[in-house]
Amino acid sequence: MQIAVIGTGYVGLTTAVALALAGHTVTGIDADPEKVAKLSRGQVPIYEPGLEESLRQAADVGAIRFTTQPNESSHADVVFICVGTPMSADGTADLTYVFTAVEQLRAALPVREQARVIAMKSTVPVGTTDRVAQRFADRPEIHVVSNPEFLREGTALFDSLHPARIVIGSASAEGYDVMQRVYETIRAPRLLTTRVNAELIKYASNAFLATRISFMNELARLCDAVGADVTQVAAGMGYDSRIGAEFLRAGLGYGGSCFPKDTAALLRVAAEHAVDLSIIRQATRVNDSQPAWFWQNVREALQPLAGKRIALLGLAFKPDTDDIREAPALKLIPQLLRDGAVISACDPAAVPHVKRLYPSLDFAETPYEALQGADAALLVTEWQPYVQLDWERVKQAMARPLLFDGRNAWPRDELIAWGFSYSGVGRA
Ligand code: UGA
Repeated sequence: MQIAVIGTGYVGLTTAVALALAGHTVTGIDADPEKVAKLSRGQVPIYEPGLEESLRQAADVGAIRFTTQPNESSHADVVFICVGTPMSADGTADLTYVFTAVEQLRAALPVREQARVIAMKSTVPVGTTDRVAQRFADRPEIHVVSNPEFLREGTALFDSLHPARIVIGSASAEGYDVMQRVYETIRAPRLLTTRVNAELIKYASNAFLATRISFMNELARLCDAVGADVTQVAAGMGYDSRIGAEFLRAGLGYGGSCFPKDTAALLRVAAEHAVDLSIIRQATRVNDSQPAWFWQNVREALQPLAGKRIALLGLAFKPDTDDIREAPALKLIPQLLRDGAVISACDPAAVPHVKRLYPSLDFAETPYEALQGADAALLVTEWQPYVQLDWERVKQAMARPLLFDGRNAWPRDELIAWGFSYSGVGRA
């Protein structure tokens, strides 16, 4: 099939590459000429393992190309809208880019006999896809569907090609039919539903996962108080198939471009309908306070903090990405600076982004360099190389053997045997 993808950010680019690999001919459209030029040269502007190789593979066989021109969607059987929906100051999702794309498509798509689909993949507030459909009410051959995306940064392409489910929200049989053909070669359960349901499935899934994390983070505070270990509690809970073992890891809280933004947007939609989603509201509060709660332990152990050297290992909101949006590191850094601590930080991918915000921090190339002379080390992002350290070297490098494991990823018992003082999240 001929596919056009508007917006080549995380979701758009991954969708474009995945659909090209799935056998379609894809045109990626983006307003940013620099980005289009880069992509046309086979270079991926984001840090996402495996994506660049797959892009080149698809480009080599002519299955994918990029342009700045919305008109080049004119031949498409399906146009995916994958533009950003950033959070406005009041928590609402900003739909400017979505409706700009809609107006461009009204002009770009010529009337034709065969059915054509506009598929909304951007995460949009409940009811937005219906509003988009109204803009095409005079074009009966155009079917507007909601087709939310559930990929994770760091495993984006794998998630697109092996999704847990494909959700298609449509108001017409043609909409379902065309979308079923798009995903013909991808094996996953399908849920054919309404547009509003599809939109809500996306928000509810992210809000539920965010709530699970906050549940465990709050429980971690109790574990600390009663001398329990939250990792053991989570393991015991996870064996119950009704609960499941994933997303029970206590830590510094969730970050990224999705959970914080989507929970805020969902709360906003609920408020507009006079519904109080109090559980989700509380989940966001726990998350907002989690880095400060953890920081309190560090502060108590190191009093007074002024002049103490703290090594921050990891800055990205999670491993295998350079994304620092809503990263816990960005909540910790101002706190540390206020307390007068001296920071040495490292991250395999995110340093350039943090450097732009805090140019005067001491950035190290390797964790060992960051740990040199440190009074304490904080594991902020559980990158594999930071989890598996040479502890002998760490001990020699540090001024004091104090380890604060913000991700419960370090081997606690081994570290205690090495003579370190270890403090995790909810590990008493
Ligand atoms: C999330 C969802 O997992 C995807 O399904 C969804 O498609 C995506 O948002 C989106 O809406 O676009 P992502 O933000 O890439 O994906 O990252 P996750 O792997 O979900 O992690 C989110 C945050 O939760 C990270 O900061 C991570 O460190 C934290 N986390 C995750 C925990 O603190 N504990 C856990 O047990 C799991």
